[in-house]
Amino acid sequence: MNKKRVLSGMQPSGMVHLGNLVGALDNWVSLQDRYDCFYFVADWHALTTGYADPSNIKESTNDLLLNFLAAGLDPDKSTIFIQSMVPQHAELHLLLSMITPLGWLERVPTYKEKQDNLEERDLSTYGFLGYPLLQTADIIIYKATHVPVGIDQMPHLEISREIARRFNHIYKTDFFPDPEGLLTEFPKVSGLDGRKMSKSYDNAIYLADTPEIVDKKIRQMTTDPARIRRTDIGDPEKSPVYQLHKIFSTPAELASVAEGCKSAGIGCIDCKKILIKNVFSYLEPIWRRREELISRPDTLRDIAIKGSQKAAITAEETMQTVRQIMGLS
Ligand code: TRP
Repeated sequence: MNKKRVLSGMQPSGMVHLGNLVGALDNWVSLQDRYDCFYFVADWHALTTGYADPSNIKESTNDLLLNFLAAGLDPDKSTIFIQSMVPQHAELHLLLSMITPLGWLERVPTYKEKQDNLEERDLSTYGFLGYPLLQTADIIIYKATHVPVGIDQMPHLEISREIARRFNHIYKTDFFPDPEGLLTEFPKVSGLDGRKMSKSYDNAIYLADTPEIVDKKIRQMTTDPARIRRTDIGDPEKSPVYQLHKIFSTPAELASVAEGCKSAGIGCIDCKKILIKNVFSYLEPIWRRREELISRPDTLRDIAIKGSQKAAITAEETMQTVRQIMGLS
């Protein structure tokens, strides 16, 4: 019973969409049987960029936890928790800040990039600079060995490894393992307009969308713009509908709609109907679990409390050693 430990978190920054599900959550779910998994809602991280308007954090934290469970994360298999309910993360963040050179944080590529992208917000804050350090505390407080993340998070993981090593080096210990990125190859989910599915492009299918909304969103998708009349032939690669077929349809269906598009043998509506059927069967169990959980808010609360208490036991164990190592106990 010495399973390797996986940890990952997600910021509660709005609604979860199909891209998040296929790109991250499905992978988290599949890791549950092979690893000792810790998954959490990074609500403190949401404040690093959203501190000026915290009015949505509580709701999106709830919603993200709900979606974790609806996607298939199982509190009997994994430790599922809320970051701010395990305050030990903050203590480790503080202690790590003592040994972290400023230059390391300033050089993280996402630091300048995000500041430029979110120009309207004042991100010349200490908390924003320390974002990857808080993330490091999240990871190493559980002595996680594997961190499933998207490619965009790799620079953060790199600095986490450096900080873990620096701690070990300064205090002549091998207490913290090197956390390794688990970069899984998963298909990029394109959105309703063919660009990457993203909340900010307004091109997403959300887990919170009802079947009626999903149906309507797919029916309204654009296809190959050259295919104006039913009798025009099309190029499936130019159709955002086909991009989604690649993820949700069977190889046989995929081949058949591609052929139908190229020969004008199938109309765009019929092609979309096949996609709708497949997206529905993918989402149906998730819709069912969401409804179940929405009708039992106490269960959700219980899961958050129990999971966070469980996480805190491991986190506290780590902190006892860290305090000792840093001369505090
Ligand atoms: N920064 C991650 C995101 O934006 C969330 C996160 C916080 C995280 N702490 C983490 C991910 C620790 C992996 C490990 O989605």
